[in-house]
Amino acid sequence: MTTIAIAGATGGVGKTIAELLSKNPLYRPIILSRSKPAESLHAKVPVIAVDYNDVEGSAKLLESHAVHTVISTIRVSSPEVALSEVNLAKASAKSPVTKRFIASDFGSMLPEPQYRLPFIQARVEAFEALRELAPALEFTTVRCGLIADFLGTPNVQSHMRPPPVILWFDREKQAAEIPGTGDDVIAYAYSYDIARFVEAALGLPRWEDESTLFSGKTTFNEILGLFEKATGSKWAVTYFDPLTKLAKTDKKFYPPDYFSLYLVQGLMDVAEDKSWNKQFPDLKTTSVEEIVGAWKGK
Ligand SMILES: NC(=O)c1ccc[n+]([C@@H]2O[C@H](COP(=O)([O-])OP(=O)(O)OC[C@H]3O[C@@H](n4cnc5c(N)ncnc54)[C@H](OP(=O)(O)O)[C@@H]3O)[C@@H](O)[C@H]2O)c1
Repeated sequence: MTTIAIAGATGGVGKTIAELLSKNPLYRPIILSRSKPAESLHAKVPVIAVDYNDVEGSAKLLESHAVHTVISTIRVSSPEVALSEVNLAKASAKSPVTKRFIASDFGSMLPEPQYRLPFIQARVEAFEALRELAPALEFTTVRCGLIADFLGTPNVQSHMRPPPVILWFDREKQAAEIPGTGDDVIAYAYSYDIARFVEAALGLPRWEDESTLFSGKTTFNEILGLFEKATGSKWAVTYFDPLTKLAKTDKKFYPPDYFSLYLVQGLMDVAEDKSWNKQFPDLKTTSVEEIVGAWKGK
């Protein structure tokens, strides 16, 4: 059994990966957390306390648990959090038994520097620091477009926390605010599909610096149509230009405004040529029809 440490698996993406790996006889998942949660996350998956500021101590911890691969699902939301991830990567490179590292991203393709939210810039700098750890540590980061669970929760199984604000589709009001024309293609990923691809990719002999995966591709107009079909009613729709909205807003670096911009810039779509979908063509994914369609009759 290969030991896989999942950092930040007290959160949605990591918890889903830990759940799947705990059912796979090839892997022994452990969760790294800054604090031990009160309730058990998954049977058989231990939660180990880690101090990301202590690189030496973290390296010893990884070695003592015979960790071969670290999957970071830390929410890298600022330069300070990026430092936690970089320290964990440095500890992984120091641990003689730890060979591979997935850096947390699970987001869009990279925006041009002038359009980067500060947390995205922090991640870019973290990736640069990780590159310097090669060849002691092989690393990749995963881009998957929009994590689509929120379009169907609570009717679809998910560990993802709901977004703190309503994003684009308001089911209560049956209204949508759509960036651009609504015909931009986006990649979307259901959290359990992300976990299935990550699980499969643990067996790949080599990783690219950047990996992509997706459950499928869609457009916001298609999602709107699926909501209308599921709820059996016509929704009120407005279309807006994200750049104009950004120019008018006084909310500095408000992520939803930038996510809308990334969508019309084509960055929510992910490259397919080297995707894990290509490597695992038989891996069955969840469609956006299944996710949004879960509202039918609710
Ligand atoms: N593309 C999309 O639509 C989309 C949507 C959601 C999330 N994401 C991305 O997916 C990844 C995982 O997201 P998630 O929703 O699973 O994350 P989350 O639940 O918000 O957080 C994951 C974990 O990060 C750890 N963490 C938070 N602050 C930290 C710090 N200062 N230092 C070290 N660890 C810290 C916490 O673990 P402990 O407290 O246990 O240490 C937390 O449970 C992130 O990169 C996020 O940006 C993408």
